[in-house]
Amino acid sequence: MSGAELRAVVTGGSSGIGAAIVAELAAAGWRVVAVGRDAARLDSVVASAGPGAEAHVADLEDGAALARLAAAVGPAPVHALVHAAGRVALGPLAEAPIDELDALWRINVRAPLELTQLLLPALRAGPGDVVFLNSGAGLRANKHWGAYAASKFALRALADALRAEERDHRVRVTSVYPGRTDTAMQREVFAAEGRAYDAEGLVAPSDVARLVRAALETPRPASVPDLEVRPA
Ligand SMILES: NC(=O)c1ccc[n+]([C@@H]2O[C@H](COP(=O)([O-])OP(=O)(O)OC[C@H]3O[C@@H](n4cnc5c(N)ncnc54)[C@H](OP(=O)(O)O)[C@@H]3O)[C@@H](O)[C@H]2O)c1
Repeated sequence: MSGAELRAVVTGGSSGIGAAIVAELAAAGWRVVAVGRDAARLDSVVASAGPGAEAHVADLEDGAALARLAAAVGPAPVHALVHAAGRVALGPLAEAPIDELDALWRINVRAPLELTQLLLPALRAGPGDVVFLNSGAGLRANKHWGAYAASKFALRALADALRAEERDHRVRVTSVYPGRTDTAMQREVFAAEGRAYDAEGLVAPSDVARLVRAALETPRPASVPDLEVRPA
């Protein structure tokens, strides 16, 4: 790492794993732009992360909002772009609403690619890292997880190809595959499974965040292409 200021953009910064990454990086001296739709939750994450963090409200499904975000952040070098925003839906494929598949695609696949494209000049200038919050479902497609897994398999494909394409620009790409983690999304999963929520035995978002920071702060030429973290 250089002595210069390190700058990160973290989507999903208003909740769960993204919020934990905002806190982790800001505490380590990074300047962090936390992105989310819920301004009140975003403000509270940023306020507790301290002076290194700032909020940027954006709906990542809105191309114009993505362009405004990129303009607000660039063209100064960006050292980390962390895609933690995401959506989940469970159920048998026989009944999966096709509109839901589109919604999963827009936030889990399309938005990360579009934002990465917009920030690539700033990432190449860093040089920076792109981190995709994938999922165990990006490695295995289990019963009732087909639509979500399809979006995460696609996200893995983007990450793998981007890594190969950006090597000469020194932009590194990491996919993170968390198992069940104690967040709002996991509450939604328990509800869909018809179970009462119990955080016992789930991964803590702060532990995912520590691993992401370790990957980002690993000096080049080493890189961390894939990171899997699961409940023991
Ligand atoms: N929790 C788990 O067990 C688990 C396991 C494996 C992988 N993951 C993955 O990890 C990532 C983070 O999940 P999490 O558990 O931390 O979820 P979470 O607590 O539900 O947070 C989801 C985040 O995504 C943001 N988001 C969703 N749609 C958006 C949109 N259209 N525009 C802007 N932001 C949007 C939300 O922002 P607002 O609320 O402000 O709209 C929120 O900050 C996701 O990619 C998820 O698939 C989670």
